[in-house]
Amino acid sequence: MKEKKIKIKWSNNSETYASIGDDWFSIAKKVGLEIPTGCLTGSCGACEIDVNGETVRACITDIKRDKQSVLNVSLTKDPYWEN
Ligand code: FES
Repeated sequence: MKEKKIKIKWSNNSETYASIGDDWFSIAKKVGLEIPTGCLTGSCGACEIDVNGETVRACITDIKRDKQSVLNVSLTKDPYWEN
């Protein structure tokens, strides 16, 4: 059985499709977004994104299907680093 693609809506109003297990960085790049990175080991939190309201670290999390058919994704804002 062929796996159905997952629709992803980004904060810049772009839409793309991904498969379960795709990495967030390459899918973001397809719509011209760059997810910030730091350690790439899950420690620093630089790569945090919000996926349907849940914060995930993109470097250690693959794309998964959600109960909702669409994943709404935005880059997480860090109140300590932004002024
Ligand atoms: S790049 Fe540091 S947690 Fe992902």
